[in-house]
Amino acid sequence: MKIQSICCLGAGYVGGPTMAMIAAKCPDIQVTVADMNDKRIAAWNSDDLPVYEPGLDGVVASARGRNLHFTTDIRGAIAAADLIFVSVGTPTKSYGIGAGRAADLRYIESAARLIAEVSQGHKIIVEKSTIPVKTASAIKAIISANSSSEATFEVLSNPEFLAEGTAIADLENPDRILIGGESTPGGQEALEALVSVYAHWVPRERILTTNLWSSELSKLVANAFLAQRISSINSISALCEATGADVDEVARAIGMDSRIGPKFLKSSVGFGGSCFQKDILNLVYLCESFGLPHVSEYWRQVVHLNDWQKSRFVEKIVRTLFNTVNGKRIAILGFAFKKDTNDTRESPAIHVCRDLLREQAVLAIYDPEVEPDSIRKDLAEAGVSPELIASNVEIVADPYTAVDKAHALATLTEWDEFKHLDLARIHHLMLKPAFVFDGRAVLPTTALKAHGFDAFVIGKGG
Ligand SMILES: NC(=O)c1ccc[n+]([C@@H]2O[C@H](COP(=O)([O-])OP(=O)(O)OC[C@H]3O[C@@H](n4cnc5c(N)ncnc54)[C@H](O)[C@@H]3O)[C@@H](O)[C@H]2O)c1
Repeated sequence: MKIQSICCLGAGYVGGPTMAMIAAKCPDIQVTVADMNDKRIAAWNSDDLPVYEPGLDGVVASARGRNLHFTTDIRGAIAAADLIFVSVGTPTKSYGIGAGRAADLRYIESAARLIAEVSQGHKIIVEKSTIPVKTASAIKAIISANSSSEATFEVLSNPEFLAEGTAIADLENPDRILIGGESTPGGQEALEALVSVYAHWVPRERILTTNLWSSELSKLVANAFLAQRISSINSISALCEATGADVDEVARAIGMDSRIGPKFLKSSVGFGGSCFQKDILNLVYLCESFGLPHVSEYWRQVVHLNDWQKSRFVEKIVRTLFNTVNGKRIAILGFAFKKDTNDTRESPAIHVCRDLLREQAVLAIYDPEVEPDSIRKDLAEAGVSPELIASNVEIVADPYTAVDKAHALATLTEWDEFKHLDLARIHHLMLKPAFVFDGRAVLPTTALKAHGFDAFVIGKGG
């Protein structure tokens, strides 16, 4: 079976870039990304894309209008497609059974119902969203109960491993593509059809095929292991601060052991992003549901340590500023959850800013890519009152305005431009003593000391 037309439900951080790459690499396939969010679709069709990602503009420009389309006509897109990626959100459930842990699958379910309603003939449905293991059987049950008798379906799992900030490089040159399918002849035929899409640019040996459940579970496990590395090194950052050790030196020393490896050992104020926390909690809930409380407790600690890391950073700031930040201006450099993205979902900056505002600090926030409205919305959703946001939050267009007459400066995202700040100018602009809290260890440490800052760098003792 040769795929000629693909549709993707969900034009978010995954659906948009992933489909843009498929369209760019497969000019023989028509690719349509469909979403009911008309503002988002309009942005995908404009020069101001809704997702900031290095290299994304070029990939979109190379295919848009040729074989890459963005539309709100979800039904039309499903009807025309041989293969449908489902790339809708799967946030943590905030209500009822499993609240705070389980995945909320309402968008997955409504997508499945719509596919069943609209489809004629044969369709391959591909789970691109990150979902709990066994979701494919729920999708199949919904579809078989709701579709017309002539329609036939196969369900595949094809989780996405791209990281925001490096999405284009990750999509172009992935470590692996994972595709899970059923062992039936129909399942294997669908699996081969999807393999042949990726084989347009990914070497065959990097396309891994498994059964459905291994594929679904591997995505959650990959994110849990990645987040665990961050929590592990962050736990050691606290010990380094207490003992005079330097976490970067420790990370280097352990990372040179080939069994450990050097990547993802950068200590920080904590991990963020829409995936790590939600996917670990999802794994925690799965383990609980399968009667494995010890396993669920083990993974839950990765999230607890991350929450503690954010809280202890705020405590460090308050304690250092003579136990009060009331009315004090604190410059916040960086609000995105990491560099090279405009995504702020679960950003540690939200937690840190919220807690500083509860202490009555005045925040001057600078981020090169995040929209001011998005910062205000995040703080409001985190429980900061509109009055406090209006009176105590200033969002500024450059770092020097942020630090002007500030009592302290905190880095919360590791944007490259922070490495090259004019520290002499910053020191001059700030009130003295000029306190720096480098939550991302992004500023040049020796230069900070040389310029006379009173600097705390995460994970550095002494
Ligand atoms: N963001 C990442 O780095 C990343 C990486 C790998 C996997 N994932 C997973 O991919 C999935 C999507 O994540 P995201 O960051 O792109 O989310 P997102 O919130 O940016 O995008 C989801 C989009 O789906 C749309 N949508 C919801 N229901 C729909 C429907 N029935 N039809 C069409 N569109 C619909 C929403 O309007 C929204 O625009 C999640 O399961 C996530 O866990 C995310």
